[in-house]
Amino acid sequence: MTAQFNVPSTILVGEGACQQLAAQAARLGGRRALLVTDVTMVSSGLAGRCVEQLKAASIAATLFSSVQPDPTDKNVQDGLALLRKENCDLVIGLGGGSPMDAAKVIAVAATNDAPLREFAGYHRIAKPGLPLILIPTTAGTGSEVTKVAVITDTGRDVKMMMLDVHLLARAALVDFELSLTMPASLTAHVGVDTLTHGIEAYVSRKANALTDPLATECIRLTASHLFTAWQEPGNRAAREAMMLAACLGGMAFANSSVCLVHGMSRPIGAVFHLAHGLSNALLLPEITRWSLRGAVPRYAQVARLVGAAANAVADEAAAAALPEYLGRLNARLGIGRLRDFIKAGQAEFEQKLTAMAEAALASGSPQNNPVVPSAGEIVELYRKVW
Ligand SMILES: NC(=O)c1ccc[n+]([C@@H]2O[C@H](COP(=O)([O-])OP(=O)(O)OC[C@H]3O[C@@H](n4cnc5c(N)ncnc54)[C@H](O)[C@@H]3O)[C@@H](O)[C@H]2O)c1
Ligand SMILES: [Fe+2]
Repeated sequence: MTAQFNVPSTILVGEGACQQLAAQAARLGGRRALLVTDVTMVSSGLAGRCVEQLKAASIAATLFSSVQPDPTDKNVQDGLALLRKENCDLVIGLGGGSPMDAAKVIAVAATNDAPLREFAGYHRIAKPGLPLILIPTTAGTGSEVTKVAVITDTGRDVKMMMLDVHLLARAALVDFELSLTMPASLTAHVGVDTLTHGIEAYVSRKANALTDPLATECIRLTASHLFTAWQEPGNRAAREAMMLAACLGGMAFANSSVCLVHGMSRPIGAVFHLAHGLSNALLLPEITRWSLRGAVPRYAQVARLVGAAANAVADEAAAAALPEYLGRLNARLGIGRLRDFIKAGQAEFEQKLTAMAEAALASGSPQNNPVVPSAGEIVELYRKVW
């Protein structure tokens, strides 16, 4: 199998990377930037500091701060209208995965005259977008380095997964200092999202020689530092390690794939509006247990990387230790069970299961899982995690 590997051509990593925003914008020839972000970034002052930095370099900046968590088609349309009104020639995404994904799709929608639904799926975007710079503030989705965006189709309550090389940023500025303000629950949710990226990229049927080292380092760093970052929000070493893990995990999964956890997680987010990282975390232990038999040596290696099994332990026993480890990690991070988070209740959940299983399969992600489930098996798995 030939593997294709795409990442941004420029990635700046480390303390102070976001100070390079104006220099990178100028390098890309930007004169009028659209800064796509959310209200938290405005109230924290971070968005304002970015605007000032750009202005000092004679680059005009228009602020678009109405991106909501789990961005919608409407967020993209509103941002695009502002971009056109202000005649912007560069797009900047600042925030967690939500503003970054919205920025990605605004940048390609500016140059591709097609309804957003037509971008959904694999390699469906005809032309490159406007130059794009991404700055993550969570650790995280890794969206700053991925050719993936997830946008909710509000007409159908479906999270559209788009994968295309034209969604890549021209520059990613990965500055862990921006993640220091994350509250504990956000640190936990996005951190388990990172771990899920590493694990799914590594066990995927599309795992390859370029993604394996990135995935395993993502897993190792997360296992060593997530709990500390959660417990001690000001711990700079832990925050730095988690920001790096998120970036590595993004590069890994976008060039391998995510699998059944992400496939089942997106419908939960679309229908019941759980945060992406949280719904992944709630699924991860049980879906891992179900998938083990399809990739025992790989799951065993993951168990060794996270310290759930000693190096000398044989594959079967090592792999079997992984779901318990993941369940314990959730418990340590204060993440309970799915039923604690679905306010609509079990009857409503039960009613949606068939449609959710179909949406999971339609995304294409479950087909990369070590064991590929039927729709009926996905329904049963949803019931198990309830
Ligand atoms: N494109 C990809 O490759 C990819 C990968 C995984 C997930 N995603 C998508 O990313 C989205 C989730 O992104 P996310 O989990 O980063 O969260 P988010 O962007 O939705 O942000 C969640 C909340 O945290 C706040 N926040 C962000 N950074 C903060 C900080 N430093 N301090 C305090 N508050 C902060 C935000 O303002 C927001 O209120 C989902 O839509 C998911 O589908 C995309
Ligand atoms: Fe994710």
